[in-house]
Amino acid sequence: MDNLVCVSDFESQASKILSRNALDYYKSGAGQQTTLQNNKTAFTKLRIRPRFLTNVSNRDLSTTILGEKISIPIGISPTAMQRMAHPGGECSNAKAAESFNTIFTLSTIATSSIEEIAEAAPHGLKWFQLYIYIDRNVTLNLIRRAEKAGFKAIALTVDTPMFGLRLADVRNKFTLPPHLKFANFEGEKSTKINTTQDGSGLNNYVEKLFDTSLTWDDVKWLKSVTNLPVVIKGILTAEDAKIAVDIGVEGIWVSNHGARQVDGVPASIEALPEIVKAVEGKVEVYLDGGVTDGTDVFKALALGAKMVFIGRPTLWGLACNGEEGVKKILEILRKEFDFALALTGCSSVVDIKKEMVVHESYYAKI
Ligand code: FNR
Ligand code: LAC
Repeated sequence: MDNLVCVSDFESQASKILSRNALDYYKSGAGQQTTLQNNKTAFTKLRIRPRFLTNVSNRDLSTTILGEKISIPIGISPTAMQRMAHPGGECSNAKAAESFNTIFTLSTIATSSIEEIAEAAPHGLKWFQLYIYIDRNVTLNLIRRAEKAGFKAIALTVDTPMFGLRLADVRNKFTLPPHLKFANFEGEKSTKINTTQDGSGLNNYVEKLFDTSLTWDDVKWLKSVTNLPVVIKGILTAEDAKIAVDIGVEGIWVSNHGARQVDGVPASIEALPEIVKAVEGKVEVYLDGGVTDGTDVFKALALGAKMVFIGRPTLWGLACNGEEGVKKILEILRKEFDFALALTGCSSVVDIKKEMVVHESYYAKI
């Protein structure tokens, strides 16, 4: 692993290790994947304006999220079915986050259960990502178990009445290998993903189980049934951000679901500024999508995100070396972010000012 020194090194190595079924599922975006590419290129269109001679000898990378201190403004996004990458799966990922004192978010459709995660990373700061099932008792059961297991927030994913069309999964007839299951469930809800007659097994799974009739009233319902902070994941417009704030959610997670839902939506980093503006500082704003370098973290924070999350990079880390692989990914990003701070005249996250990041067009206008 010593020769893997950046996230893309891990991605290349993971591509050699993972099965076609798993690799295609992890890496795909929706449709023609233009947004998938844009999630990354949009970062390269932003320029950092560094300042110097500001004494950067003591640097502090920590921040506070929903009242909890974390050591780096980089957390782990929920990604489903992590045991396809490594036998330790979500447990290894959660342990890596625990050792970095940052947030691990568990997917509803994980291959490790809420209780297994609580046992694997008892001191870690854990959030639970919720998909709302048609059967509200199933949904309530997940919420109660997350509360009981000490999870500190519910991240309700709102961009997913169904899963996007990922063409490779359709071609591969994607299924979860038979030795794995959706560990938060029993019966059909846990194993229906193991077989498919036709097309992506994931699309088939949600067809009869997910509630496609959700509205903002269901966010109110969620707020009424739990005392945990509710974070809305998947917001891409100022309009939706304002509704979420008015309903009283605690956080807004700007995300295009790793470009896996509908192709053609903006890169997350493109959508961030209008949402930050609309929210007017009333709630915290986070971002994920295409973060693969410490300078990406810097850019997102300058544009108003309180922290960022990473999805695929942790899957590459897991595939290469389980918990140690994810730790190395977090260490790479921590170090790159520390360099970005020092080399732009910043000693902490509060020193990252809006005017330090501009779109490339800024230089053509001068
Ligand atoms: C996801 N994502 C996701 N989101 C969610 O709310 N629940 C989930 O179960 C999943 N599952 C999932 C699986 C895989 C393989 C991927 C790649 C993504 C979306 C995820 O939380 C996050 O928004 C993106 O992964 C962020 O983009 P990057 O960091 O992968 O570029
Ligand atoms: C995905 C789901 C699980 O993106 O969120 O595959």
